[in-house]
Amino acid sequence: MFRSELRRELETIMRNNLYRSLRKKREDILDFSSNDYLCLSKHPEVIEAVKEGLKYGLGSTGSRLTSGNINHEILEERLAEFKETERALLYPTGYSTNIGVISALCKRGDLILSDRLNHASIIDGCRLSRADVEIYEHCNVESLVNILEEKRKNYNNIFIITDGVFSMDGDIAPLEDIKRIADEYNGVVIVDDAHGTGVLGRGKGTLKHFNLKPSDNIIQIGTLSKAFGGLGGFVCGIEEVIEYLINTSRSFIYSTALPPSLVSGALKSLELIEEGHLTKKLQENIRSANRIFRRYNLIEEDSLTPIYPIILGDRTMEVSEYLLKNGIYAPGIRYPSVPKGLERIRVSINVGHREEDFERLGRLLNDCIS
Ligand SMILES: Cc1ncc(COP(=O)(O)O)c(C=O)c1O
Repeated sequence: MFRSELRRELETIMRNNLYRSLRKKREDILDFSSNDYLCLSKHPEVIEAVKEGLKYGLGSTGSRLTSGNINHEILEERLAEFKETERALLYPTGYSTNIGVISALCKRGDLILSDRLNHASIIDGCRLSRADVEIYEHCNVESLVNILEEKRKNYNNIFIITDGVFSMDGDIAPLEDIKRIADEYNGVVIVDDAHGTGVLGRGKGTLKHFNLKPSDNIIQIGTLSKAFGGLGGFVCGIEEVIEYLINTSRSFIYSTALPPSLVSGALKSLELIEEGHLTKKLQENIRSANRIFRRYNLIEEDSLTPIYPIILGDRTMEVSEYLLKNGIYAPGIRYPSVPKGLERIRVSINVGHREEDFERLGRLLNDCIS
C-alpha cells in the first residue's frame, strides 16, 4: 500500500521530467559542477592537516556540549577574527546552521522577511521557526520596504534573511541597502554567505565586498563545504547571539560535533584563504570566463562570482547530457531548486580551470544552443 503510493508519486515526478537520480562522480571529465571554488578540498597542505587531526579519532563522539568539544574552539576563534565579529560557532553543516540559527532566534511574534530566491536551508529554517514569514521579491529593496511599512508595527523582532551570493544565480544581495533598511526599521539582518566567503571581499565575504562593518544587528552564516573545500557550517555575530545559540539551538545541541580532522583541515583552509592569492586567482578566472562566455553569447552581464546560470528552460537536461557526452559535467538544475520556466545549467568555475576550459565549454554550449 505504502510502496505503491510512493511508486505512483515517483511516476508523477518522472512524467513531469523532474526525476533525480545519483550519478557517480567521474574523475575523467572537465568539471563545472563543484563548489570547491579555491580547489582546497585536495590541497596537499589541507590533506596533511586532516591527517594530523585524525590523532583525535575518526569522529568527535558526541555533541559539543558533551564529549565532542575537541579542537573546535580554536577554529571558532579564527573564524571570528576572520569575519571581524565577537564570536563564531560551528555546526555540523551549513544546512544545519541555517535551520538551527533561524529556528532559535526567530520566535512567535517576530516577522521574517526572506528573499524569494533564498536557499532551501533558509526556507526550512523559516518553516521550523514560530515566526511569521513574508517573501520579498528577489533583491528588491522596494518590495522589502513595502512589506515593512505595512507590517512592522504588528511585530516584535524583525529579521531580514538573505543569501549573500545567490547559489543558483551567482548575483549578490544589495546588502548596503538591506542593512540601512534594517537600521531604519529596527531589524536584524541574517546573511548566508555560503558562496561569498573565500570569493568576495578578499575572501572575507559579502559584507567586506560592500565595505560594511559587522555590527550588533548583523548575523553572518557560512559553510566550510564550498570555498573551504571541507564540511561544516558556522555562524558569526555578537557574544549574546552565540551564547543564546549554544543554549537553545537544536541542531547545535542535539547533533554530533564536526569530526576533529575536518576542523584541522578547515583551519588550514582558512590560513590559505587569508594569504589572499587563491581568491585573487579566482577573481582572475572569473574575468577570463566573463570575457569568453560573453563572446559565445552565454552571458549578457559580467559576473562577480564563480556561478553562471545558463537559463535554457525545457532544453536544460538535454543540453547537460550533450555536454556530458562531450566530456564536460555542468549539471542541469530544475524545479524546485529553481522556479519553473527558469531551469538552467549551473556552471561554477574554480581556480583550477584554465582559459582553454572556458573556451571548450563556451564552444560546446554555443554549438548546442544556437
Ligand atoms: C546558500 C547556501 N546556504 C547553505 C547551504 C548548505 O550548506 P552545506 O552544504 O554546508 O550544508 C548551501 C549549499 O548547499 C547554500 O548554497
